[in-house]
Amino acid sequence: MMHIVKHILLSIYIGVLLLGHSAFADRILMVTEATFPPYEYHEGEEIKGIDPEIMNEVAKRMNKKLVVEDMSFDSVITAVVSGKADVAASGITITEERKKQVDFSLPYVEAAQVIVIKKDSAIQSADDLKGKRIGVQHGTTGDTYVTKNIQQPERFPNAALVISALTAGKIDVAVIDQDPAKMFLAKEKELQILPKPLVMEQYAIAVKKGNQELLNRINSTILDLQSTGKLKEICAKHTNVILNQAKTTPNAPTGFWAELKDDFNTNFIRESRWKYLVEGFLITIEISFFSVLVGIFMGFIVAVIRSTYDKTGKLRFLNALCKIYLTVIRGTPVVVQLLIIYFVIFGSVDISKIIVAIVAFGFNSGAYVAEIIRSGIMSIDKGQFEAGRSLGLNHTQTMLYIILPQAFKNVLPALGNEFIVLLKETSVSGYIALADLTKGGDIIRSQTYTAFLPLMAVAIIYLAIVMLFSHLLNKLEQRLKNNE
Ligand code: ARG
Repeated sequence: MMHIVKHILLSIYIGVLLLGHSAFADRILMVTEATFPPYEYHEGEEIKGIDPEIMNEVAKRMNKKLVVEDMSFDSVITAVVSGKADVAASGITITEERKKQVDFSLPYVEAAQVIVIKKDSAIQSADDLKGKRIGVQHGTTGDTYVTKNIQQPERFPNAALVISALTAGKIDVAVIDQDPAKMFLAKEKELQILPKPLVMEQYAIAVKKGNQELLNRINSTILDLQSTGKLKEICAKHTNVILNQAKTTPNAPTGFWAELKDDFNTNFIRESRWKYLVEGFLITIEISFFSVLVGIFMGFIVAVIRSTYDKTGKLRFLNALCKIYLTVIRGTPVVVQLLIIYFVIFGSVDISKIIVAIVAFGFNSGAYVAEIIRSGIMSIDKGQFEAGRSLGLNHTQTMLYIILPQAFKNVLPALGNEFIVLLKETSVSGYIALADLTKGGDIIRSQTYTAFLPLMAVAIIYLAIVMLFSHLLNKLEQRLKNNE
């Protein structure tokens, strides 16, 4: 048994390693947080902007294909450090702390943190910020500056949400990067940027420490783009795209129904944004489905080992292993497990994030399923065991043919419950940049700056899945009852 397990684990490991190498050879994986125009922004299916375009030039010169991935800004540097990604290009400011983690390219832009307020605000300079509600993007230099020099800010996942919070009156000031601030303000007419920047900074591209070859390529590309004037062109191009978009956005209509209709159009119809929900839905279903399978598989094995030990005293070692598994999994939050599996366990292998999620949620669920099934096994009358044995069945046969089927029937409602929980727990997949249903709604939200409709749509879709699932489960229960 142990031998087979070892063998399987080893082949999976080798497979994963090979997968990593072949994929690394001909592509460059760039990570970014793509709600940061003009440096990076979503346009339809694609992530465009100054950073992807610079990196595209680098990739072209290396005869490689650029793959761009969107994740939370506070993860982009970690992704490079852990080897998940080759470069982080995300309007990243060069700082001493970050230099300890990664190597930076030559700077390619002079940037600044600025103060954004409502036009009718009484705030006039940085001196007036103390005690105000200050919003920043989590993990940015704006965040660090405000935290160190003023007070604890309110931290949002991206700059667009900081701006919507400001427009909605949830905060008094936004401290974000200058160029994106200008882009956002083209649409938000009631906001203004204070003329004096809070701090000046420089953007650069980050690579893993010691990746000299890639760093040299990036540097020579930057120098090249600067000397030919191409860099300026790229910057101007993306700035204009964003400003033109803002101009062509029609004025919002008034009246409840007209507004709702307009919101509906912006959030779902325009730029085919509904696709984020459909694709997210499919990913959520895919992750949930396979996690349930992994969970049932793990759960069954663990439950059988544990109850065999309880009943016969055999399998002492495996039982101890199972106990550790249950304690660790049930004692830590699933998001933390997901992040550990992604960044630490599969840190330096290039593995599909869907698989990472299935492993994480499947192993997590397995722990709960195990206890549910064990309680089912324990609930079966001792006489059933004896009956099995007296029919001449051995322990395994009794388990398989007599105990487990009855146990399964008894715990079906509890299992159903566990799968409903699992489905909704997959909503944290966005932490590893998987575009699941919840994240799909987030992407729409960050593009349209409206909270209501995307969140409602996401909630309704989850609700529909759960209702359908409960319905099917009820039917199954009914069937089993009728079979009795
Ligand atoms: N320049 C700031 C920093 O390095 C903010 C960058 C945010 N970038 C982004 N793509 N969201 O901390």
